Amino acid sequence: MSETKQTELNARISELESEIKQLKSAKTYGLIWEDKPEDVILQCRDNVPVLREVKNKKIVADPSLPTNLLIEGDNYHSLSVLNYTHRGQFDVIYADPPYNTGNKSWRYNNDYIEKEDEFRHSKWLSYINKRVRLAKNLLSDSGILIFAIDDYEAHTLRLLLDEIMGEDNRLGTVAVVHNPRGRNDDRFFATQHEYMLVYAKDKNKAALGNFDLTDEERGRYKKSDDISSYSEASFMRTGNNSTPRERPKLFYPIFYNPNIQKLSLKKAKGSVELLPINEAGEEKTWRWGTATFEKLCDTDLFVKTVKGKYRIFKKRRLTDEAGKKPKSIWYNPRYDASTYGIMVLQDIFGRGNHFNYPKSLLLMEDILEVTSKPNSLVLDFFAGSGTTGHAVLNLNERDGGTRRFILCTNNENNICEEVTYERIKRVVKGYKDRRGNDVNGVPGNLGYYKTDLVNIEKLQTISDTARLKITYQAGEMIAIREDTLAEKEKNEWWQIFEGHGRATAIYFREDKSHLRDLIKELDATGKPSVLYVFGWGKNDYKNEYTSALVRVEDIPEPIIEVYKEINRL
Ligand SMILES: C[S@@+](CC[C@H](N)C(=O)[O-])C[C@H]1O[C@@H](n2cnc3c(N)ncnc32)[C@H](O)[C@@H]1O
Repeated sequence: MSETKQTELNARISELESEIKQLKSAKTYGLIWEDKPEDVILQCRDNVPVLREVKNKKIVADPSLPTNLLIEGDNYHSLSVLNYTHRGQFDVIYADPPYNTGNKSWRYNNDYIEKEDEFRHSKWLSYINKRVRLAKNLLSDSGILIFAIDDYEAHTLRLLLDEIMGEDNRLGTVAVVHNPRGRNDDRFFATQHEYMLVYAKDKNKAALGNFDLTDEERGRYKKSDDISSYSEASFMRTGNNSTPRERPKLFYPIFYNPNIQKLSLKKAKGSVELLPINEAGEEKTWRWGTATFEKLCDTDLFVKTVKGKYRIFKKRRLTDEAGKKPKSIWYNPRYDASTYGIMVLQDIFGRGNHFNYPKSLLLMEDILEVTSKPNSLVLDFFAGSGTTGHAVLNLNERDGGTRRFILCTNNENNICEEVTYERIKRVVKGYKDRRGNDVNGVPGNLGYYKTDLVNIEKLQTISDTARLKITYQAGEMIAIREDTLAEKEKNEWWQIFEGHGRATAIYFREDKSHLRDLIKELDATGKPSVLYVFGWGKNDYKNEYTSALVRVEDIPEPIIEVYKEINRL
């Protein structure tokens, strides 16, 4: 063989070897799509996202309450910022993305995605994938993620979320009947429902609450004893799995002594034997095994004479925990998106078309009732008309909670400014509904922020000038991280924010000649404060300047680290 031939052959062999390697490492099960990175993501290779406050849009109704945030901008950028400011802090994250229906419902790099686009699923998955990965980092250990979706992408989204969140962490796939009339323009089945895919960050640490009972349901617990109110239910099991063949351990004799009204497993003088046999003479079972019976027979069981026979009844207790476990089909007029979504917007803004896809406000309240705690931090990163924020305010008012929300939305068709912001403002201040009735304000505060990009040329090999630039522009982002939102001072050396009796300061310059002055100023306030000191690396100034009142943090290295990590996701 000639030398050239041999070289060609060797090249071909190594090509084939690398193909085999690739094939071996390819996925054998799971979702595969052609990744199509978006412009907003590529921008982050040479820019870092930050936040800027729109000061004239601040709403302060009650300074004693926490401040909620509305962030206008592409949510890839907002979620990136939140990865620095709020990692691991959200108890509930809700997302209601565009459903990829092909009806000009969403844009990808500024183009509407049509039904005919052969990459429509790939583009949508690329778009959701990155955002879910960013959102997952924001969940607290016991946090819950809820995605709303309909049939167009339900199957792909579920595979994607199973992969990112872990199949074992899927808490449920809930069908929500949001259009009880059914969609008229469907050719075959008239769609009435969509889905909620619900995941935990860690199933072992997450808890789902029960729905409160309605007054009518509570009214069914008419009797009471020393322990609680109760209603009565037969102690004999009926329906499925109620025969001794299926549950032999639940078929046993119970002895009842009518003179002392006592139930026992032991036969005694004067007692009668009772067996779970129904009126038709069929053998059934009791509801509990013998161990539970012995523990609870004195307090939770009693006997009545029915048609001349002794029958055992169980007390169904209305305890404080009593409530209804959320079911997998949510079918209730409360969830109708037309009545409690579109009409709610018409109540707030007057008749007209304000936004086409709002969720039912009552649906959002119910979701939050079972997924949040009274002090939860809630994120909605496809906030649209702001239903989630409205629901948080309502729920807090109802149960005295102090939940806070962060809403992120772009400003497509001015939605953020004209609908999301205006809605929250009117809900807080009060408004007249479409029938002219006054609706009282629900107390709450809001800060309005926009995402912005700071050009740094190259994130991977960041220059010294870029480091200084980030530090100078990161102020509002840091204020949000520390929850000290009010800017008190900005000069060429430093910036100070205050809030909740604390202060946050950022010292911008490499030249530390004014740092002592700033520390003196912070000490003089007598408030605990955090001081972000510019440095080239980490822990450069921690020991030098930390005092009893002042905690020192690095800037900008931790921000750069977060953004580099995100770029690798
Ligand atoms: C289906 S709607 C959400 C509706 C919302 N649940 C409600 O009740 O009003 C999706 C929203 O996400 C916004 N959106 C779409 N892509 C976005 C992106 N990349 N960043 C931020 N917002 C986006 C759209 O403007 C739209 O308002």
